[in-house]
Amino acid sequence: MSNVKNVLLMGGGGNLGSEIIKSKIFKNIYAPSKNTLNLLNQKKIRKILETKKFNLVINCASLARMEYCEKNIGKAIENNIKGTFNLVKEILNYEQKYKKKIKIIHISSDAVYPSTRGNYKEGSSLGPYNVYGWTKLASEFLIKMVEHHVIIRTRFYKKNLIKYKFSASDIYTSQIEIEHLPRYISYLIKDNYNGIVNVGSKRKSDFKIYKNIKKNLKSFKRKDLIKRLKFNIARDSSLNLSKFNKIKSRYE
Ligand SMILES: NC(=O)c1ccc[n+]([C@@H]2O[C@H](COP(=O)([O-])OP(=O)(O)OC[C@H]3O[C@@H](n4cnc5c(N)ncnc54)[C@H](OP(=O)(O)O)[C@@H]3O)[C@@H](O)[C@H]2O)c1
Repeated sequence: MSNVKNVLLMGGGGNLGSEIIKSKIFKNIYAPSKNTLNLLNQKKIRKILETKKFNLVINCASLARMEYCEKNIGKAIENNIKGTFNLVKEILNYEQKYKKKIKIIHISSDAVYPSTRGNYKEGSSLGPYNVYGWTKLASEFLIKMVEHHVIIRTRFYKKNLIKYKFSASDIYTSQIEIEHLPRYISYLIKDNYNGIVNVGSKRKSDFKIYKNIKKNLKSFKRKDLIKRLKFNIARDSSLNLSKFNKIKSRYE
């Protein structure tokens, strides 16, 4: 991409991060592992920003599993909130010191919405329903301090990771196949988009999406899943995509 010279990709070893690398959309991309650059290590973030002179940061780093966040609240707060705090603080310090702007693309979640009635717009009332969602919402507030930011509220799946035997027929989302996201991120950059945007696809039940991939999938109900998980999950987190669809139509 022509206006993007140097990209820092956080979380490059994860599902979405590796998809972004595989897409080859971004040319000069530096994707350190968590061992090389942990968001909890503020000094290292500073050093890498100062030496590599990035003009774009794509942040896919997070504790991204709801069940894990529920069972490890402290770690969820540390990685998802304190980690974002460190990144934002160092970006702002860098911008002030070098009089240069860094754009940040931050991957947030549909879990910041109450996820009961669906068709959420970017301006709808927020109200996360579990620990993960609260940490993602808190991270959004921090990201907004960076002048050039894009916060993507989404949910995605990867075909070969659908291993469940059962799936809920009464949980609705706008989740999207992961392979589309790198391209969609590039549209938002080309469009010079600033702010929050929902990204996803047409509202469907989990069962309907996964049944297409796994023919022997059986359906069950959300209440059975909640009984097993012991924490709250979405009923309908589907997204109003009108903002994003307008942007997409300019490139496809
Ligand atoms: N999966 C979804 O459906 C979904 C839905 C909505 C939003 N999201 C968001 O999308 C983003 C990517 O999700 P994903 O499914 O690709 O997650 P993932 O596969 O779990 O990848 C997350 C990546 O973040 C890294 N990471 C975690 N804590 C870190 C830290 N403190 N410092 C540096 N790196 C750290 C992980 O490193 P290690 O593997 O070494 O721990 C991993 O590479 C996340 O922000 C997630 O919240 C995901």
